[in-house]
Amino acid sequence: IKAQIDQEIASINDLEDVKKIRVSYLGKKGPITEALREVKNLPVEDRPKVGAYANKMKAALADQLTVKEEELAAAAMQAQLAVEAIDVTLPAEEIQLGRPHVLNQVMEDIEDLFIAMGYEVVEGPEIESDYYNFERMNLPKDHPARDMQDTFYINPDVLLRTHTSPVQARTMDQHDFSSGPLKMISPGKVYRRDDDDATHSHQFHQIEGLVVDKDIKLSDLKGTLELFAKQMFGEDREIRLRPSYFPFTEPSVEIDISCFKCGGQGCNICKGTGWIEILGGGMVHPNVLEMSGIDSQVYSGFAFGLGPDRVAMLKYGIDDIRHFYQNDLRFLEQFTEKG
Ligand code: PHE
Repeated sequence: IKAQIDQEIASINDLEDVKKIRVSYLGKKGPITEALREVKNLPVEDRPKVGAYANKMKAALADQLTVKEEELAAAAMQAQLAVEAIDVTLPAEEIQLGRPHVLNQVMEDIEDLFIAMGYEVVEGPEIESDYYNFERMNLPKDHPARDMQDTFYINPDVLLRTHTSPVQARTMDQHDFSSGPLKMISPGKVYRRDDDDATHSHQFHQIEGLVVDKDIKLSDLKGTLELFAKQMFGEDREIRLRPSYFPFTEPSVEIDISCFKCGGQGCNICKGTGWIEILGGGMVHPNVLEMSGIDSQVYSGFAFGLGPDRVAMLKYGIDDIRHFYQNDLRFLEQFTEKG
């Protein structure tokens, strides 16, 4: 039996074999168990010897099987480790880091300039009432100038704001002049039913500016925007004011910034005139002040609406506004300033 057992143990391949051998030799019907059972039928003097031998064999076999079992388990573990091995010397995959969108960068730069001049940043809703978007901006329901701003209406009273100017009225409603003058900017998205082309997008951005205090004059607006232009684009920039019309400012102006530094590609954004219009503005119309309960005999203000899309185009020589909104990484990855 012993020789047979040795042979079988040597031929064990897996844990299943171990189990089989254990059952066949050590089980209730196995030869060793059988032999032990027969011991009682032997002559008394032989019993201890045979019994001890059989027990020894049983214990030895159990030990051998345990050893074999451990070997197999260890081998299985090694095989598993080999399969799951990670080669730490392989080059890592490059991680793609995001970066602020060029438009957000430019808007933040503009905000920083005005914050440094003591302005507060205020936000307003993109879904706006007709009341704030138009009526409070001195555009009653049948006013012809409503056509200037092709509007996305949600219902007759609610719309996607066509400009950030309604934030003027919202802020003036809240302001307490005993705490000082009102100086705010309001950045955000605006919407117009325009056909998209190189210079138009149905959704674009504005930064509204508003200052109300005693003795605010048009020259304050000009000085403020001149400072802005020079800080944003360089000391050699100039601005020019052209008379214009907005129902909520009187007088109204359009403000251009000089393009002469813009060489090479992208220069066509100035269309050969040397100037690009970047904002509208003027003195806040007395009606607009009065509708917020501000005495227009005592207070006056200037307001402006700035186009950060245009500012970014001018700053980086980008000749198509649609680039900002198409999420083409080849375009976006060129602006890594703060990335
Ligand atoms: N809201 C005007 C526009 O969208 C711009 C503007 C703002 C003009 C403030 C005057 C004063 O065109």
